[in-house]
This record gives sequence, structure tokens and C-alpha cells, in this order.
Amino acid sequence: MRRVFCDVPGRPGLIATLTLNPTLDDAVETVSLIPDDVSPARTVRIDPGGKGINVSRTLHRLRVPTIAYALIAGWSGHRLQDLLAAEGVAHCLSPIPGETRVNLVITTTADNVQYHLHYPGPGVRHEDITLLLADMAALDPKPVFWVQGGSLPPGAPANTYAVAIQQAHRHGIPTILDADREPLRLGVNASPYLIKPNRYELSRLVGQDLTTRPAMLAAARSVIATHGVQIVLLSLGADGALAINRQEAWALIPPPVTPVSRVGAGDAMVAGMAKALAAGETLVDAARYAVAVGTAKVLSPGTALAQVDEVQRLQALIRVEKLDAAQSHTA
Ligand SMILES: Nc1ncnc2c1ncn2[C@@H]1O[C@H](COP(=O)(O)OP(=O)(O)OP(=O)(O)O)[C@@H](O)[C@H]1O
Ligand SMILES: [Mg+2]
Repeated sequence: MRRVFCDVPGRPGLIATLTLNPTLDDAVETVSLIPDDVSPARTVRIDPGGKGINVSRTLHRLRVPTIAYALIAGWSGHRLQDLLAAEGVAHCLSPIPGETRVNLVITTTADNVQYHLHYPGPGVRHEDITLLLADMAALDPKPVFWVQGGSLPPGAPANTYAVAIQQAHRHGIPTILDADREPLRLGVNASPYLIKPNRYELSRLVGQDLTTRPAMLAAARSVIATHGVQIVLLSLGADGALAINRQEAWALIPPPVTPVSRVGAGDAMVAGMAKALAAGETLVDAARYAVAVGTAKVLSPGTALAQVDEVQRLQALIRVEKLDAAQSHTA
């Protein structure tokens, strides 16, 4: 019999996230890696990861009700569940055969070099995804958003996010998609409410280099016009983001900071945007908050989450520019 670990019911204002290929992010430290010898190591931290799970963890920290829906497998899957439970993040995890992947980051302190070892995730079957989506759809009351994205596990068809978005449409639930390449291209065809590409992902989606702001705006507007996407939140790393809908476009520029770890910056930003939109904020205010959460994340080490006091401090420091509609036509 299928066992699903769902520890909470729905709540008003809840944001549901979907992670088909979660990870255990394991950060260890050793002085140096010695060939054919033992390197004494210590665990720096171990975190549950994967895009949707990161979004849920950040939402939980920002005091937004959320449930992380994910497929888990084997020992590492159980460990992931324990970690989510310890953090107080509500979850609905569906076990599948195999072993949830581990992302191992080894830092050698002698030379301050990082080695990233990514194991493959377990293969999934069609019915694993269908059943998890059915769990999400059964949530009552309905969530304000479904957030989904990240790499697809082996066996998941490229149209998996498109199928999920269509299902959400049938339940009247708006969706947020943060994906790349074919899963993004097919997902966009299903008209998600919001997409959060970075400039390379948007560039691949529209099939052209995006080196200028007018070119970026034009690309975002073409996605909105052609596919019925409502909002494009285009993230630009240290340059912040552009937020575009049918009527307006804004640039959100963070103050210069010295990043400590960029891991999960995009996920933090998605969590911020989802929270602010769910609270009824305008496009510009929501995007300003999203950039504050993203920027706060890069000030936290490794896979550690954004600090709430940093988010508040940064929010006031983000510069906002309203972009003229004409800027999208001058490349
Ligand atoms: N170097 C940086 N300095 C300041 N803020 C940053 C930096 N890198 C990222 N950010 C913040 O995080 C947000 C998202 O970053 P980015 O555009 O790199 O997303 P991404 O490429 O989707 O990242 P991810 O690898 O997490 O998917 C930015 O809009 C910004 O707020
Ligand atoms: Mg990203």
C-alpha cells in the first residue's frame, strides 16, 4: 500500500510547493583530501533541498503557511522528512523506490576549495507523479499558489510541469513555474500565472541572446502576449530583477552586497514573490520584497536560509525604476 506522510490539513492563505527531485544537501569540511588516506571530516550542516522544498522552507521562515509536496525514497528520503519535521515545515511526502539524491559539498579548508558531488535521483514512474498531483489537488481549502520547478527526475516526461499547471487550472489555482529548457518551454504553453527565469533561462526560452534591458523587456512581453503568462519575474543576480506584467514593467535594484553563498537565491526570491502576491501586494511591491529575500539569502552561508531581519533591512534599500513601455521596442 502507498504510504503518504501528510502531517497537516490545508489552511487559508497556504502556498503549496511541488518537488519531484528533492535532495539532501550535505555540507562537510576537511582540511584537505588526501589520496589513498583518511581525511577526517566534520558535517557543517545538512539541509533538505530541491527547489520546491527550499521555497517552502523559506515561506515557513517568513511565517507563511505552506506544504511541501515531494517524492522521497529510501534512507535519505526518511532523513529528509525528519529534517523537514524538525524545522516545522509541513509536508506531504510520497515514497517511491530507490534513494533520494544527496548533494555533497566538500570544502577543503587548507585551500578553501569546494567540491560538489551530485548523485542521481531515483527514477520515477508516471503513477508516482499522478498520485502526488492528486494529493495536491485534494488540498482543502485550496492553496493560493502552486509553486513548482527544478530539474525533473529520471523518468519524468518533459511536459510534467505543463500537466501540473493544467491540473491547477482545472482547480482554479494559479501557478508559479521556475524551470529551464524543455520543461519551461512546455510549461509556459500551459499558461502559468508567473514564471521566474534568470536571463539565461529566458534567453533559451525565446531563442535569442538577451544582453540589453530593452531586449529583456521585449522577450518577457512576448511570453506574456503569446502564452497568457501574467507575470514574468526576470532575475538578474547582483543586478536584482525586472518585473513585468501586461500593463507595467519595473526594475528592482538591490544595494551592492558581498555574497556569501548564491545557493538557493532564486528559490528565496520565488518564496518572497509568492508571499507578497498572496498578501495582495502590487507588482512593484511584491517584486521589491522578492529581491530583498533573494539578496538576504546570498548573505547567508551555504544552504542556510535568508535571515528575516536582513530581509527587512534590505527592503528599504532596494532602488525601484518604473520602465517605460517604449523601452521594450528599442533593442
Ligand atoms: N551576487 C548577488 N548579489 C546580490 N544579490 C544577489 C546575487 N545573486 C543573486 N542575488 C539575489 O537573488 C536573486 C535571484 O538570483 P539569480 O538571478 O542568480 O537567480 P537564479 O539564477 O535563478 O539562481 P538559482 O541558481 O538559485 O536558481 C536576485 O534577483 C538577487 O535578489
Ligand atoms: Mg533559478
